[in-house]
Amino acid sequence: MVQIMRQALALMGVAAVTAAAPASFLIPRENSLDDFMVQSLPGLMENVAEEDRPVMYAGRLDIGKGTKYFYWKVEDNDNRLPENHNRTMFWFNGGPGCSLFDGALMENGPFRINEDEKVTYNNGSWHRLMDMVYVDQPAGTGFSDVDGQEYLKLLYDVGLNYIKFLDSYYELFHDEAEYDIYLGGESYAGQYIPYIARAILDRNNANREGERKYNIKGITIGNGWISPNEQLLWYLPFYIQAGLISTQSQGYSTLLSHHERCQKVVDENDGAYDRGTPVLQMEHRDCNTILSNLMYYSRDNDAPANEVCINIYDYTLRDSYKLCGMNWPFDLKYVYPFLRNEEVRNALHVPDGAQWKECKTLHGFSEDRTAPSIYLFPDLLKELEIVLFNGNLDIICNYLGQEAMIEKLKWGGEKGLGETKRDWLHDESPVGYVKLARNLSLVIIFNASHMVPYDRPEISRAIIDLLVHNFDETDEKIATRPIGQRKALADANKEPLLKEEVSTSGASEGASKTSTGSSEETNPSKATDEAPSVSASENPKGDDNGLGLVSKVTRLIQVFVIAVLMWGVFVLVMLYRSRPVLIIRLGSPSTKKKNVQWADQLRQFQDDELEFDQQLGTSTDAPQQGFIAKTIGKITGNAEGRQYVSVPDSEDLELGDLGEPSVDDFIIDDDEGDEGDDNERDHTPARSST
Ligand SMILES: *[C@@H]1O[C@H](CO)[C@@H](O)[C@H](O)[C@H]1NC(C)=O
Ligand SMILES: *[C@@H]1O[C@H](CO)[C@@H](O)[C@H](O)[C@H]1NC(C)=O
Ligand SMILES: *[C@@H]1O[C@H](CO)[C@@H](O)[C@H](O)[C@H]1NC(C)=O
Repeated sequence: MVQIMRQALALMGVAAVTAAAPASFLIPRENSLDDFMVQSLPGLMENVAEEDRPVMYAGRLDIGKGTKYFYWKVEDNDNRLPENHNRTMFWFNGGPGCSLFDGALMENGPFRINEDEKVTYNNGSWHRLMDMVYVDQPAGTGFSDVDGQEYLKLLYDVGLNYIKFLDSYYELFHDEAEYDIYLGGESYAGQYIPYIARAILDRNNANREGERKYNIKGITIGNGWISPNEQLLWYLPFYIQAGLISTQSQGYSTLLSHHERCQKVVDENDGAYDRGTPVLQMEHRDCNTILSNLMYYSRDNDAPANEVCINIYDYTLRDSYKLCGMNWPFDLKYVYPFLRNEEVRNALHVPDGAQWKECKTLHGFSEDRTAPSIYLFPDLLKELEIVLFNGNLDIICNYLGQEAMIEKLKWGGEKGLGETKRDWLHDESPVGYVKLARNLSLVIIFNASHMVPYDRPEISRAIIDLLVHNFDETDEKIATRPIGQRKALADANKEPLLKEEVSTSGASEGASKTSTGSSEETNPSKATDEAPSVSASENPKGDDNGLGLVSKVTRLIQVFVIAVLMWGVFVLVMLYRSRPVLIIRLGSPSTKKKNVQWADQLRQFQDDELEFDQQLGTSTDAPQQGFIAKTIGKITGNAEGRQYVSVPDSEDLELGDLGEPSVDDFIIDDDEGDEGDDNERDHTPARSST
């Protein structure tokens, strides 16, 4: 399967990553750091305490062939924390085509912009833990551009060009070229980042003379767009689970039929992947109409005009219909004038005349014949730590889709992360939960939107601690600390954070970790250099593996037996409940049971559906090609995004394509064992990398 992946990637052009040495490494150093220093910004002196003022560089870097990438580097001042050294994170916003200023001024950057259009300090800024470098890329995004040359067309080139950027960047910051590198980003960066990481690793592994290698250690993606069709399939279940649409509502049968067709697409794609011929496709049209239909059918027409639609980035908020979140986040209205201010532009070394827009259309950028980045994960995980985090209020890249996508993924010889969740405590409060194993963590954050650092800045910063394994853990919990309490971690006399857990088997791991950390002087990030201690199901570390392992295994068996029993009861109970709920609770879209349920339900709705179709006249074609790309891309206020939804009043039913739907059309057989034995499906290879 590895070869197959390689072949597929070669076909797709990724092989090009390992060809042709870029010449940019040899670009003579003509820039000096002073040219990029950011000396002042409106509000910096008044609103930000001296000890909080970061050291910053910004401007455009030439990366060859007339292409210039704009970057903004933020590092801590002399008050830097001990663990914050020799490590850099490069941050990407989504789109494609959304600018770094989303991240830098509304999320995990050092500042927010207030109503006076001045900076205020963001006390959840990530630069306290790592140097942060925000980059507008690919060219055409934000302040990055090309001089008369072509824009990038393909995701693979995004990786190649990013390496050119790194080469230029480290010409300038040559003292830092050996630092540990992390990539972070959100939304559509879920496509960029794995492709960039792949390109960097391929270059490192190629080991060619004259080419710098980069110490890439890990990547983190927030509410990522990683496996589009699979994620599109989880919109309906998410709406139902969150109570955003009623199964009695007008369009429900239509929604079900769309969902079912998308299910078929996903099943077919999975089958193709298993046969070694992955489908090179981002979004299938049978999947990408689902969300616009949900937005349409979940309207509240009795609400004031600006609250008719659910905000698809945070379902606790509302917006006018068809914008449905495009007006969010609210800070955007201050960011625009801030970036038009000459004082700001001079300070950031923005070239004269460069126009800023939150998200721009990348002309010619194409996703045709591109494999979704999920296919890159199994190989990446052999060499990197990956943390996926997800705000649970987001619809567009919702956590159900992420969980389902990971459950199917096979890497490190096993499939998925299993059912076991561990509570995540930050500063001793529960803030979400974590599943982690074999270099992958999936983190769900409560009460957070599509832009987690926007809603929960201080908590979001602890994602870095999860990424570098700077946390205490037991079998049930993972605990991180606010930065003010960092020193505790290195203090041998301090009690372990999770006191009450000390007597349980899992705590020995947490405790030994704490004491290991403390015996190694002051640098808690040292823990990263050890073999990362991962999930309960993996080998515990050295000193306590005898006892710890036995009791762990016993415990696992107990948990398993209880889970199986509960599962049985659950299934019985749920069988008597309404089916859509059943579908969701039973999870995986690929169980036979589920499909039976859907077919069942469709039989029930079939007549209504046809009748409804007739009421509305002939069905129309899907109008929303590329809709998701635009919507995703926009993280808000995107002027491009504003053109997007056009759900006609006659509504797109698309039943014409189906002809006379018959129940059998919706039964997609799984060739796995007995219906009802859910544990069976974990043994079925669905997505394999070995
Ligand atoms: C950080 O800022 C938020 C919002 O201004 C505030 O509620 C919180 O208490 C601050 N936290 C710290 C540690 O200063
Ligand atoms: C996890 O990543 C490390 C490199 O950071 C690698 O040595 C290890 O084999 C990986 N683990 C798995 C299960 O692939
Ligand atoms: C989430 O928000 C709700 C209401 O806004 C609040 O009651 C709850 O405590 C919050 N939960 C967490 C984990 O912050």
